[in-house]
Amino acid sequence: MSASPTAPAASTAPATPAGTAVRTALVTGASKGIGREIAERLARDGLRVAVHYGSDRAGAEAAVAAITAAGGRAFALGADLAAADGPGTLTDALRAAIGPDGHLDVLVHNAGVGESSGLAEITPEEYDRLFAVNVRAPLFLTQRLLPVLRDGGRIIAVSSGVTRIALPAMLPYAMTKGALEVLVHQLAQQVGPRGITVNAVAPGVIDTERTRRQFAADPGFAAYAEEVSALGRVGRVDDVAGIAAFLASSDGGWVTGQVIDATGGSHL
Ligand SMILES: NC(=O)c1ccc[n+]([C@@H]2O[C@H](COP(=O)([O-])OP(=O)(O)OC[C@H]3O[C@@H](n4cnc5c(N)ncnc54)[C@H](OP(=O)(O)O)[C@@H]3O)[C@@H](O)[C@H]2O)c1
Repeated sequence: MSASPTAPAASTAPATPAGTAVRTALVTGASKGIGREIAERLARDGLRVAVHYGSDRAGAEAAVAAITAAGGRAFALGADLAAADGPGTLTDALRAAIGPDGHLDVLVHNAGVGESSGLAEITPEEYDRLFAVNVRAPLFLTQRLLPVLRDGGRIIAVSSGVTRIALPAMLPYAMTKGALEVLVHQLAQQVGPRGITVNAVAPGVIDTERTRRQFAADPGFAAYAEEVSALGRVGRVDDVAGIAAFLASSDGGWVTGQVIDATGGSHL
């Protein structure tokens, strides 16, 4: 990342109307792509949403503006999750925004880096960055936010279908998502007594800015993704956001420790 924020943009969270129990969600990496769609969907479902960004403050502010224009509540928070103190910075910014008595109800670990190399090309530096953003940040963000996550809350991680499908060209990235799924499984057992559910959503190829760059670089990639999906198309961000919304809802409360496949039946 070239331009990480020097200080978190901790806008004040929109006030909760007196006497109402509005739930609050934090969605990491919500400045664009899948995370932005999850943020907008949770806001439509009535949650007040903390829209986290790494370097794209304008993207996060556009997401907040879209949510607000649609009648929802949101605020932006910046933190570079590749930095060692990234989870701490984000936790401090969130706590400052929601106030000393504030709580979190839904934590979505979506931020991720994925333009990865295979075994022959991976460098120690790229490996460290992949694991910092995709694994270390969710672990330490969870550690720091558990005290403010309400009993009955939800933790949702965005994994990838590459933990089920062998794609050696993405080996190190797949390793990070494997670790994330292990975190989900173990954590679900640990926080279950508090009524907190922990699940992962594992998308296949989803049409986002990132994949559009891959489509442009490899004209056969989109056709390949359509062909391997039982449903015959590339996924959309709302395909993933709908599953996250279900897991965040009361209807999703009896599902925990699971990885929900969101690949449109790829490689069945
Ligand atoms: N798109 C797919 O086909 C696909 C498939 C399977 C799984 N996934 C997973 O889905 C998630 C979202 O993917 P996407 O395609 O929507 O990605 P994207 O469009 O590239 O967006 C990635 C998000 O993560 C944030 N982020 C990246 N590095 C960060 C850092 N160092 N610190 C803080 N935030 C950082 C970005 O923030 P800034 O831009 O503000 O820096 C951005 O908001 C990822 O975990 C990815 O692995 C995606």
